[in-house]
Amino acid sequence: MSEFFFVVCQVGAESTCKGEVEQQFPGAKLAFSRPGFVTFKQADKRFDQGAFILESTFIRTWGLSLERITGNDGMKLAERVAVLAAEVGAQAIHVWQRDQSLPGDGGYEPFNTPLAHQLGAVISAKTEAHSGQALLVNRKAKSGSLVLDVVLVEPNEWWIGWHRVQVTAQQWPGGVPPQIRRQSVVSRAYYKMAETVLWGRLPIRAGDVCVELGSAPGGAAQCLLNMGAKVLAVDPAELDADLLQTPGLTHLRMRSREVPRNLLRQARWLFADLNVAPSYTLSAVEDLVKNRKTHFVGVGLTLKLTDWKLAAEIDTFRERVKSWGFQVVRTRQLAFNRREVCLVGLRDKFQARLSYLQSRRRKAHKKTRATGARVSKD
Ligand SMILES: C[S@@+](CC[C@H](N)C(=O)[O-])C[C@H]1O[C@@H](n2cnc3c(N)ncnc32)[C@H](O)[C@@H]1O
Repeated sequence: MSEFFFVVCQVGAESTCKGEVEQQFPGAKLAFSRPGFVTFKQADKRFDQGAFILESTFIRTWGLSLERITGNDGMKLAERVAVLAAEVGAQAIHVWQRDQSLPGDGGYEPFNTPLAHQLGAVISAKTEAHSGQALLVNRKAKSGSLVLDVVLVEPNEWWIGWHRVQVTAQQWPGGVPPQIRRQSVVSRAYYKMAETVLWGRLPIRAGDVCVELGSAPGGAAQCLLNMGAKVLAVDPAELDADLLQTPGLTHLRMRSREVPRNLLRQARWLFADLNVAPSYTLSAVEDLVKNRKTHFVGVGLTLKLTDWKLAAEIDTFRERVKSWGFQVVRTRQLAFNRREVCLVGLRDKFQARLSYLQSRRRKAHKKTRATGARVSKD
């Protein structure tokens, strides 16, 4: 139980997050703030970690605060972390540095840093020395498991907290999916698309046709193609020349309003990443999803916050997409978003759930067959 909690967000989104927290917990008072990391005190209430959910667009992840530890001796700090991990009964540990910059600025991406990896290894060794068993550090945590959070607010100032994994993003250290990292990508939109699909739990299957409005130079299309999808990439600008050779990719070199609707008959997913104001993106998408020749089961939209004031309109954006017949509509400022948010909409929650379960079953089946094959060979 604790009366303090922390939230993690993009650098610059702190006051928007504060507004979101105050809406849900009117008694919460700001306790400490650094770019990308904010703590609150809820004096009239103590949270049980299992019953603490923040519905939010801008909060990347959150947890209860335990204590702040400082010093230049990393070994000593790691020893204290091991003690706290044992005290709370942690099943895993997440260690990460708060964001250093706006994603995409000067090549910065919010993936975990060498410092966090190095300290993570030290902490893991200390947990083994303390309790005889090394806790896994910076792995994807299981749903329902209890995770100790070590936020490196500064290299010599660590904020320790904990959370029970309740939503997808809480499985990842600092709410950033580590598994999407690649050596080279056509553009950083690759990461945005990979995170959209994971966080949004979009049940995209091999062979599904995806349309992307605003697809040049092609990072997002690259990600979808890697998943086995077919992509209709709509953009008057050029796509990456190597990517263009990929089977399954068709470049429609035109603006979204010029796309012949007949070409979209087989498409299941509609994505948009246009460098224009949200109202324009929403109109371009509405035009396509409402056309009687199209049958999209889901949408994934990047909505640019050309002005921070647009954050106040996010509810309206969601309502607009719901009014087109999408039952499940959610928004999140992805770790890999810049000054923008991601909106996902699924036409039918039961269908979406079903196809998600089917794809999991297919994966499990494949795995069993692979294991079976190995056993019979042996
Ligand atoms: C942020 S970039 C897209 C990045 C891309 N998703 C990727 O994966 O690399 C925005 C793109 O939107 C395109 N764009 C702007 N208005 C458009 C429209 N009406 N129809 C199609 N593309 C448009 C621009 O040409 C630009 O290439």
